[in-house]
Amino acid sequence: MDQENLPPHVIIFPLPLQGPVNSMFKLAELLCLSGFHITFIVTEYIYKRLIQFTNIHSRFDQYEGFQIKTISDGLPEDHPHSGDQFMQLFDALRSKTKPLFKEMLTCGDLRHVTCIIADGIMGFTCDVANDVGIPIVYVRTVSSCCLWVFFCLPKLIESGELPFHDDDFDKLVKSVPGTEDFLRCRDLPSFCRLGDISNIYVQLYKTEGQEIARAFGLILNTFEELEGPMLDQIRSVCPNLYPIGPLHAHLKTRLGAEVGSSSEQTSSNSLWEEDKSCITWLDEQSPRSVIYVSFGSIATVTKEQLLEFWHGLVNSGVMFLWVMRPDSVAGKDWEENVPEEIKEGTKKRGYIVGWAPQEQVLAHQAVGGFWTHNGWNSTLESVYEGVPMICWPYFLDQQVNSRFVEAFWKLGLDMKDTCDRVIVEKLVRELMEVRKEEFLKRADDMAKLAKGCLSEGGSSYESLKRLVKDIESMAV
Ligand code: UDX
Repeated sequence: MDQENLPPHVIIFPLPLQGPVNSMFKLAELLCLSGFHITFIVTEYIYKRLIQFTNIHSRFDQYEGFQIKTISDGLPEDHPHSGDQFMQLFDALRSKTKPLFKEMLTCGDLRHVTCIIADGIMGFTCDVANDVGIPIVYVRTVSSCCLWVFFCLPKLIESGELPFHDDDFDKLVKSVPGTEDFLRCRDLPSFCRLGDISNIYVQLYKTEGQEIARAFGLILNTFEELEGPMLDQIRSVCPNLYPIGPLHAHLKTRLGAEVGSSSEQTSSNSLWEEDKSCITWLDEQSPRSVIYVSFGSIATVTKEQLLEFWHGLVNSGVMFLWVMRPDSVAGKDWEENVPEEIKEGTKKRGYIVGWAPQEQVLAHQAVGGFWTHNGWNSTLESVYEGVPMICWPYFLDQQVNSRFVEAFWKLGLDMKDTCDRVIVEKLVRELMEVRKEEFLKRADDMAKLAKGCLSEGGSSYESLKRLVKDIESMAV
């Protein structure tokens, strides 16, 4: 093929964490379906896990011109990429990975690159793109409601709303346009609670608006019908948006696969081994009777919190499927402190796995509720499957997402900042029994909109079409 007839070659560089990697693989596959060549860049840490737990190479073998390249994140091999250690990753990426990325583009074998798609939180990718003269489109895998709050951080500081004190937690926030009647201080991203606005998180996120505006455009894993008002706010800073989500479902729709079908296995990008036995357990349960509990790939709980949750779940009398990641409980020997009655209650009404095939679980007819940390992927997966939520946000964007779930979309109950067996029991009953029909109806209405936006003429379908066209026009 002569150079002029080569398809566009796009470099995709996700933030090296489970959620972003997961959704960027879906985007990569969508672009492969449009005939693009893709180079997908992951850190060695992520690559090792991908090789161990997924069939990533054989899945992408079918796409000519797809390749994975690894890059170092400069962290020691045993560095825990979870809990509060995860900020160190940003420093390492900036100092160690940036020069390696530039070297890859200038001295490596990456030829004829049309465009870079990189996570907008990794601003160094834009510096490198500008240096080597390649257009860059940013992608953010957080919710648009949270991204908008990030954009407003300078305003929050200027107005004196940040920092806030403990007794301001329930005060409404005024400096985030579009959310004035429901967003409280406690719903701001978790790092806003640190009391010191010079903390590394505020420093990292307060420049988001400026940073994002440097790129050609911004891809977002959301859809107009869910986050339209927030997208309009973001457009005031960055007009060229591509809301193409929910990405996991967008890909499935393009592949013509049925939700929850066996094709599910082929599209897994899990960095932990999935325990599929929970699907057999779900098959034996009544429709909408099970609450699925999972706090994503990063959150950790103390053993005291774990026991409060566990008591609450068992006492609720509701069937539950719980993901307890091997590294999700801080501290050792917690298993020895689990009381007998809890173990007994779990045998009767619960099922525990280390990692679940989550998309399949949420699509299962036995699941009627999701107790989630509100990572954005989990939230979108729940919205798409019409599963109402109990929200227990852990950090970052999750505090904002959970407020939107309860107060804006009315798709569930927010239990942020509480960890008490009595409250857990009450909320589980409220979601799964007392207000079950009301929540299921709302969730079902939103799920219909989520599905509609992915078919021809739908908002996310058209945004993706425009993105493909725009990248194609960069190639000529
Ligand atoms: C992180 C942040 O926590 C989150 O707030 C941000 O929006 C994205 O990056 P994470 O904590 O892993 O992600 O949460 P989430 O975004 O929900 O992603 C978790 C992914 O792992 C989901 O796609 C989910 O389907 C998958 N998962 C989770 C499994 O496949 N099995 C499980 O047992 C649990």
